[in-house]
Amino acid sequence: MNFLEERIIKDGIVKEGNVLKVDSFLNHQMDIALFDQIGKEFKRRFAKEKINKIVTIEASGIGIACIVARHFNVPVVFAKKSKSINIEGEMYVAEVESFTHKCKNQVIVSKKFLNPEDRVLIIDDFLANGCALQGLISIVNESGASVEGIGIVIEKGFQSGGQIIRNLGYHLESLAIVDAMDASTGKVTFREQPEW
Ligand code: G4P
Ligand code: NA
Ligand code: NA
Repeated sequence: MNFLEERIIKDGIVKEGNVLKVDSFLNHQMDIALFDQIGKEFKRRFAKEKINKIVTIEASGIGIACIVARHFNVPVVFAKKSKSINIEGEMYVAEVESFTHKCKNQVIVSKKFLNPEDRVLIIDDFLANGCALQGLISIVNESGASVEGIGIVIEKGFQSGGQIIRNLGYHLESLAIVDAMDASTGKVTFREQPEW
């Protein structure tokens, strides 16, 4: 088990409806020493790519993206969720549907902050159905920049996002992949991954 899986076992809480609560260390209270280990591991896994920018999405991707960015020495651009419609022109826009919240959001990034020379690492805390991630990918592609890699802290392997993104040919690295969880026992089962 890696340090992140150990932390999920120790402090994660399995809720009804296949929801994993990790708000004591990942997406409400944030353990920055853990984030730093995560940043170091992403740096190792994407060492071959010449990343010059990290892209994430508000809100809970931002904290982790910032610490990862310290390891790559590059800036972070976060996509904003927006309800307004008259923003085309100076913004890249993608439509993102949330299965969890049953709503549609526009996700936007200013054209000032992504351009064809950019080599992007996309970072997010969770990957479930992958709608948010597909929105980010579409924005990066529209800008002419390249998606060099995608780093996810926790992937829910029993939802379809990971497989869709891998089938599209992207280099996706998820530090912990949850293949099953049980709210009545609290048990979390991780997919076997190569040792770090
Ligand atoms: P997806 O298709 O983009 O993968 O996500 P989905 O709509 O299924 O999930 C909606 C939101 O819930 C996302 O955050 C996602 O990160 C989060 N999420 C999904 N499954 C879990 C889970 O088991 N535990 C936790 N803690 N979060 C989960 P969001 O609404 O985009 O944003 P924000 O929280 O970053 O503001
Ligand atoms: Na979230
Ligand atoms: Na997120």
